Amino acid sequence: MDQEGSSKINAAKGALEYVKDGMCVGLGSGSTAKEFIRLLSKKVRSDRLDISCVTSSFDSRMLAIKEGLFVTETDAIERIDLTVDGADTVTKTALLKGGGGALTREKIIAYNSKKFIVIVDETKICRGTLQGEVNIEVLPFAAPLVMKELIKYQPSIRMARAKLGPVISDNGCFILDCQMKLENPKNMENWLKSIPGVIENGIFTKFDKIIIGNEKGYRTF
Ligand code: A5P
Repeated sequence: MDQEGSSKINAAKGALEYVKDGMCVGLGSGSTAKEFIRLLSKKVRSDRLDISCVTSSFDSRMLAIKEGLFVTETDAIERIDLTVDGADTVTKTALLKGGGGALTREKIIAYNSKKFIVIVDETKICRGTLQGEVNIEVLPFAAPLVMKELIKYQPSIRMARAKLGPVISDNGCFILDCQMKLENPKNMENWLKSIPGVIENGIFTKFDKIIIGNEKGYRTF
């Protein structure tokens, strides 16, 4: 196991402490979220817990089902008690997410949860002003117009690697990748949401805790 791998597992272990019997758990997407899904499955079996899960991507859904977790849908639950997800970049007040293209469902699940815990390794921490790639999901029809609106952020349509043409999200949309320095992440999150054709953006400003994993264990940010 390399250092990054063990750090991700340790971050996931930190979040596992918050899982209680009877909960509905929102499952994030990405390699760190996958470690949490695997650990959750083990805990559910060993402690005989009654846990239901809602997922933020087909990728997480497939893994959760393979791991034997009870996966349900948002119309079949009363509430989401806890969501655990990774992030691409974190500061104490905002995150960037969407490297895996699952940002819309991730935000829907996370923002509708009683508690949202972010799990990352040390490499994800950004000191100072939050900056980096901001991922934006757009309706394909609107993509050229949204790109014009965002021209100063160098938008590009994310292209697929194992198919021709653009990445098509789990929601049938395109993903735009932009470069931004965010002096006020909340304002930018809201402004991006207001552009017609934008489905969602990867700036997250609502979360309860960030757990940072390292080789030896984990700590709260
Ligand atoms: C998926 O769309 C992303 O938001 C991921 O949650 C994020 O990119 C973190 O992924 P890793 O844990 O693989 O770094």
